[in-house]
Amino acid sequence: MKGKDYFNELAEQWDSLVTHDAEKIAAILDLVKIPAGGKVLDLGTGTGIMIPYLFNRTGPEGEITAVDEAEKMIAVAKRKFNYRNVRFLVGDVLEMALPATYFDCIMCYSMFPHFKEKQTAVIKLAAYLKKGGSFVVAHSQSREAINNLHKNAGGPVKEDSLPPLDTIRSYYRSAGLEVTEEIDNDRMFVVVGRKK
Ligand SMILES: C[S@@+](CC[C@H](N)C(=O)[O-])C[C@H]1O[C@@H](n2cnc3c(N)ncnc32)[C@H](O)[C@@H]1O
Repeated sequence: MKGKDYFNELAEQWDSLVTHDAEKIAAILDLVKIPAGGKVLDLGTGTGIMIPYLFNRTGPEGEITAVDEAEKMIAVAKRKFNYRNVRFLVGDVLEMALPATYFDCIMCYSMFPHFKEKQTAVIKLAAYLKKGGSFVVAHSQSREAINNLHKNAGGPVKEDSLPPLDTIRSYYRSAGLEVTEEIDNDRMFVVVGRKK
């Protein structure tokens, strides 16, 4: 089974399987400083958990592009959210051609471990950021908790791991991103890089 099939199977139950702490998400977004009217790429949006929080920061003048390769996840997200300025795209983000230097923020919330070629992914995605735009890897749990979760889930996600900070820093460097914020503790894992 591929990762996409795995998440498709979980789509209808996803919102009852995961819990998200609004306070932690607010703390993550405070670090990112998304401008009002900003353009955000919500990568691996799933059922759109981040959409209302991102909308809260961009405001109605902003634009959210929510991408997921699992079409059933996107179907749930579409049922939940009908904002004029949110567009949904189904597909592997690494196979899409998105506009260059377009986004103010690329948010990988609870999705970065699922990239197989992580450095290649960061380099490709950073090209979509405006100068000064933010690339964000964020989780509302510790790195250890995330890695154990995937190991215990088994199936196609069992090898999907969140690399240590040092490794993520080196990916960011190779993509022309300067690390501006990092948190690696028992409550959350966040690395924010700004495009130089
Ligand atoms: C663990 S889920 C998280 C979903 C959501 N961000 C949340 O926090 O509830 C990861 C999502 O990323 C998607 N995904 C993984 N790799 C992807 C890729 N290369 N392109 C698009 N979506 C991807 C999966 O289909 C899945 O829905």
